[in-house]
Amino acid sequence: MATKETARATWSGKWAFILAAAASAVGLGNMWRFPYLAAKYGGGAFLLVYVILVVTFGFALMMAETALGRRTGQSAIGAFKCFGKKYAIIGILASAVPFIITPYYALIGGWVTKYMAAYLFEPASVIAGEDYFTGFILQNPETYVWMLVFIALVVVVVALGVKRGIERVNKVLMIALIAMAVGISAFSLTLPGALDGVAYYLIPDFSKFSVELVVAAMGQMFFSLSLAMGIMITYGSYFQKDEDLEHSVRRIEVFDTGIAILAGFMIIPAAVAVQGGAEAVATKAGPGLMFGVLPQVFEGFGFAANAVGFAFFALVFFAALTSCISLFETLVSIVEDGAKRGRTFAIATCAVFVVVVGVIVNMGYNNLLSVDLMYSVFGIGEYQDAQLLDFFDFLSNTIMMPIVALLTCVFVGWIIKPQVIISEVKQSSKFVAEKLFVVMIKYIAPVFVVVILVAYVMNTMGLITL
Ligand code: PHE
Repeated sequence: MATKETARATWSGKWAFILAAAASAVGLGNMWRFPYLAAKYGGGAFLLVYVILVVTFGFALMMAETALGRRTGQSAIGAFKCFGKKYAIIGILASAVPFIITPYYALIGGWVTKYMAAYLFEPASVIAGEDYFTGFILQNPETYVWMLVFIALVVVVVALGVKRGIERVNKVLMIALIAMAVGISAFSLTLPGALDGVAYYLIPDFSKFSVELVVAAMGQMFFSLSLAMGIMITYGSYFQKDEDLEHSVRRIEVFDTGIAILAGFMIIPAAVAVQGGAEAVATKAGPGLMFGVLPQVFEGFGFAANAVGFAFFALVFFAALTSCISLFETLVSIVEDGAKRGRTFAIATCAVFVVVVGVIVNMGYNNLLSVDLMYSVFGIGEYQDAQLLDFFDFLSNTIMMPIVALLTCVFVGWIIKPQVIISEVKQSSKFVAEKLFVVMIKYIAPVFVVVILVAYVMNTMGLITL
């Protein structure tokens, strides 16, 4: 990715950039993470806050990151460093984020791989069983095997440099994934009680608003759009000087958010139908939601259940694989640039890192089940039994990414000034939402992050109740 030989290769056109960015952006964040958060935080209320954040804060941050990348021609650390050595720290913090995410991303990738295989070998009714999911993730050595299979695939693709090929296939598969999600959503709407789920998902219930909801929506926005982790800076650095940045950013946002909303449609109404009501869903929703609910929906397809289940998990598998490849490549390029010991060394180091940390995260579901870092480190969620996965997820999405986003806003808004970004954007096109960009990056976004994080901490410590 961030190699510095000769002139930097650029994307061959706007669509090449959009598709590559979409392949990275669309992944487990859309299919797995968005639906369970929306289900947990009041459905429509979460959806509304999420969409508002994407078109304001997310838009401004993605413009800033891609333009910074294109202007400097560098990945995160180098890009910030261009404006002064001391600013490299922002890039370093941003680069730490994918190191936290990749191991647990690969663990969930392993779960998806397992489900894909399960539909080949086991009856759909067994997979739809009450305890199938917990039986799989808890105290089961099999989970390590699936995670390692997933990591091995990622490493092999990156090591052999066959990423382009995968991305080409991925375009077709992404369309298939969308078509399937539409079909499954339509089917799940026929389940008794599903319409209550649609109402829960689409109609904001204002009593559900909370600081926690907003914090969760903000973290999800960063995660899903691959923001505040240096990745969009690197993408921007491959972007041609004459392509319209604003259009591309809008397209990525619409595409990514559209798929997340669709995934919610597929999972939330069905969850309400099979779990008997929105309240039950909200209390139970967590990382296992997709794996618990969808098999029950698939069972309804009768003789086609196994085929549907397999096809669906295979498509999610590809979406997760391409995203994880792009995460892993980011790690490799950071180590490559930092250690200067060649690509093979970087790949090997990163592979060992992901396996070791991935194993530790997975131990949170067996040997380390009683360890609750969420409670012991952050003092939250007592008795909620958060696993190590929740801890890492919280650390990246709720703590590190908001901080990186805040620093990026202050850096662009007050240190280098928005004009640097604006003139970069205007090199190739008009900047339609220039005013929105300036107001967001200078004032609203940074104030918002500070206020919401302070309120969140105070709320958690019991100093206020919001
Ligand atoms: N945005 C991806 C998703 O939603 C995750 C990801 C982040 C992938 C960063 C690549 C880089 O799954």
